[in-house]
Amino acid sequence: MTPQLATTVCGILLKNPVLAASGTFAYGVEFEKLVDLNALGGFVVKGLSRDPIEGNPPPRVFESEAGMINSIGLQNIGVRAFVAEKLPALARLRTAVFANVFGYCTDDYVEVIRVLNDHPGLAGYELNVSCPNTAHGGIYFSNDAMLLAEVVTAVKRVATRPLIVKLSPNVAAIEPLARVAEESGADAISLVNTVISLAIDARTRRPRIGAGFGGLSGPAIKPIALRFVYQAAHAVRIPVIGLGGIATGEDAAEFMIAGASAVEVGTATFWDPRSPLRIAEELAEFLGREGIAKAADLVGTLKL
Ligand SMILES: Cc1cc2nc3c(=O)[nH]c(=O)nc-3n(C[C@H](O)[C@H](O)[C@H](O)COP(=O)(O)O)c2cc1C
Repeated sequence: MTPQLATTVCGILLKNPVLAASGTFAYGVEFEKLVDLNALGGFVVKGLSRDPIEGNPPPRVFESEAGMINSIGLQNIGVRAFVAEKLPALARLRTAVFANVFGYCTDDYVEVIRVLNDHPGLAGYELNVSCPNTAHGGIYFSNDAMLLAEVVTAVKRVATRPLIVKLSPNVAAIEPLARVAEESGADAISLVNTVISLAIDARTRRPRIGAGFGGLSGPAIKPIALRFVYQAAHAVRIPVIGLGGIATGEDAAEFMIAGASAVEVGTATFWDPRSPLRIAEELAEFLGREGIAKAADLVGTLKL
C-alpha cells in the first residue's frame, strides 16, 4: 500500500482513492488475469437488478468524439445469480467491492439490497438512481426530489452496509438532489452517471445506437463532471466520489481538488483495463512532484 494514497470514505478504508466504475468492470472477477484486483482501491460491479435483464438491441456502443455512447440496457445476471456465482470469489479479495443496484420501483431496490445484505464480501452499496420509475410514468428517480427521497429512505432503512447514491448529470441543478440524498440517509454520493446523448448516421439517417439515445462517457464529459462534483461537494457534508472521463492521475487530482474524496474510472478501462491502477500510480507520482503529503490533502482545495 502507498501510504499517501490510503483514504477512508464513509468508514471504508481504501488502499487508494481510485475505484473501477460500474458497468465497465463486469463483476470484477473477469478482470482477474489482467489486473491485480487486490492492488485496486476498490471496484463497483455491474448494476444488479431483482431479475436478470437481457439488455438492449445492438449496436450498444458507439465511439464519438473524445467519448463513447452506450445503451447497454442494464444487462445483468440478476442479484441471485450474482450472490451464487460471483460473490464467493469476490469475498476472498482484499479490496473494497461495491455492489451497484438499480430497479424500476422502490421495492425492486429494497429487494436487491435485502438479498445482498445476507452475504459477506461487500464493502458497500452504490444505488444507480438513473432509472425510470415505471410506477410514476417513467420519471427518473435521479430527476425528482420526491422519488429520490423515497428510494433512498427505503433502502437506507434496510441496508446493513454504507450507502452511496449515484447521481445523474441530466438535471438542471444538482444541489437540491444532492441534499435530498444526504437528508434521506446516503452515506456518500457519487457522480456523474452518463450524459444522455444522440449520435446519428447521416447516410442512413438512423441513430448509431440501437435503442436511439445513449449515455455519453469518457474524456468528453470530464469538464461537465468536474462542475457537478464541485457543486455537489459544496451542497453536502457527506463524502463525494467523482467520476466522468478520468483517464490520468492528474484527472483524478482535478476531481479531488473539486471536492471528491475518491474517484471512479469507467470508460478508460475500455482502452486500458489496468487504468484504475495506473491512475492511482500516476496520482502518487503527482503528489510526489507537487510535494503534497497525501491524496486527502487535495480534497476541496480549488482556488476560485
Ligand atoms: C458500457 C457502460 C455501462 C455502464 N453501466 C453502468 C451501470 O450498470 N450502473 C451505473 O451506475 N453506471 C453505469 N455506467 C456509468 C459509469 O459507471 C460512469 O458513471 C460513466 O461512464 C462516467 O464515467 P467514465 O467517463 O469514466 O466512463 C456505465 C457506463 C458504461 C460506459
